[in-house]
Amino acid sequence: MTADSRDKPDHQRPEHPAFWDKRFSEGTTPWDAGTVPAALAAHMAAQAPASVLIPGCGSAHEAAFLDRLGWAVTALDFSPAAIEAARRNLGDWRGCLLQEDFFAHRPVAPYALVYERAFLCALPRKLWGGYGGTMARLVAPGGCLAGFFFLGEEPKGPPFGIGREALLGMLVPHFELAADEPVADSLPAFADGERWMVWRRR
Ligand SMILES: C[S@@+](CC[C@H](N)C(=O)[O-])C[C@H]1O[C@@H](n2cnc3c(N)ncnc32)[C@H](O)[C@@H]1O
Repeated sequence: MTADSRDKPDHQRPEHPAFWDKRFSEGTTPWDAGTVPAALAAHMAAQAPASVLIPGCGSAHEAAFLDRLGWAVTALDFSPAAIEAARRNLGDWRGCLLQEDFFAHRPVAPYALVYERAFLCALPRKLWGGYGGTMARLVAPGGCLAGFFFLGEEPKGPPFGIGREALLGMLVPHFELAADEPVADSLPAFADGERWMVWRRR
């Protein structure tokens, strides 16, 4: 923890659940698409259902979609207010909704798929060092980390954009890049910076 972040209250520190609780409870959620992004829907059409993790699931719109497709979904978020929003959205579903820190998540088996959207860019840079290794632990060999990555060099966030070289440095030790495409339906919060990427676990 830096002296800087120690001085701030929890609700101003995105590494703390209180930061996200405040935004969910105030309804300030400019990242929330309210629907299933087109690239995810297109990608899933060609996949056989298996296990999937959605870290930092927020309102969890995609969780309900993947559940309907027959996937065994685990949606996880460390913010109680996010979990409450997800619970309202999900209603009656077959998946697992966990209030837990991503870095502490220890499933009984790694997942066939981890779906990323607006999660890495929610993490302050000081936490990025743990992202690649944790994803490598959570994705089964041959499985995928797939989703939307917010590329950019803007130091202030969230969203915290990541430079392409930094993202490659984080993931290439564990994954091969299998798809890297522009995104047509980005929200204004992510305009021009979002890429749809599929990373296959070695
Ligand atoms: C920008 S929101 C994105 C929510 C959702 N993925 C979406 O696309 O709408 C980031 C979410 O990540 C959650 N989050 C941030 N750090 C986390 C961590 N270490 N473990 C679990 N959840 C975390 C926050 O509580 C918040 O709900």
